[in-house]
Amino acid sequence: MTARLIDGNALSRHLRAEVARRAAALTARGVTPGLAVILVGDDPASAVYVRNKVKACHDTGIRSVQETYPASLTQSELLARIATLNADPAIHGILVQMPLPRHLDAQAVIEAIDPAKDVDGFSTASAGELMTGLPGLRPATPAGCMKLIESTGIDLRGKHAVVVGRSNTVGKPMALLLLQANATVTVCHSATPDLGAFTRQADVVVVAVGRLHTLRGDMVKPGAVVIDVGINRDEHGKLCGDVDFAAVSQVAGAITPVPGGVGPMTITMLLVNTLDAAERAAGAAATTP
Ligand code: GUN
Repeated sequence: MTARLIDGNALSRHLRAEVARRAAALTARGVTPGLAVILVGDDPASAVYVRNKVKACHDTGIRSVQETYPASLTQSELLARIATLNADPAIHGILVQMPLPRHLDAQAVIEAIDPAKDVDGFSTASAGELMTGLPGLRPATPAGCMKLIESTGIDLRGKHAVVVGRSNTVGKPMALLLLQANATVTVCHSATPDLGAFTRQADVVVVAVGRLHTLRGDMVKPGAVVIDVGINRDEHGKLCGDVDFAAVSQVAGAITPVPGGVGPMTITMLLVNTLDAAERAAGAAATTP
């Protein structure tokens, strides 16, 4: 069998058109959705990510405010800046690009963001909301994976989903989102012996470890949905994920490519989170006496 390709670019285009429609409707009510993006230091990869996020905002009618600071910025200066943005009613989302320079306490910075504006969903408040099933802002990459899985038409209720990877940004929230969708969830990681024994039982596999060829063709159940979060370079410098795409696509029912799968969804879900936050703020403002 040859797997159906899950097209993250096409799904992103569709979702971004919906974001643009919602942004225009909110703007027409006098509230332009606003995202603050903070970049500290001169990491070239971070600069590219931030540029892409700012462009995506511009393309969908979200006002973005980019603030770039030298690596010498102090913790208290950064916290003061976040406090100002927390209090700014024109800003609905605040994103501090990671990684931060080593002298800054990244977790303390994340915790300083108003949970209602935590569009990365990285704070313990947002993690707690996800854990308990309360409404809140979900981390963008796993939220994007859920959209990709849903786009296949699979009903997750009672299905076995295996998540490979246990990071705070992808693996753990991914497992909770799948659980919330009524899947039976197994989380595998670097200390799991015989990974294939688990993944072969899975109706859905999400791989997020950052290691080439973590999931091979003989580790997948025929017809399974395979989501590849990895971004690696192979020995020829070619971009590829954590999944051996050539082999697994012969066995799986549906699979995301790299590039063009999960990648475009991450920024798309950041835009969705910003709209959700702005609509919630506008709704709260409209109902405040
Ligand atoms: N660095 C790499 N990915 C991300 C992300 O999703 N959000 C933030 N804030 N920093 C990142």
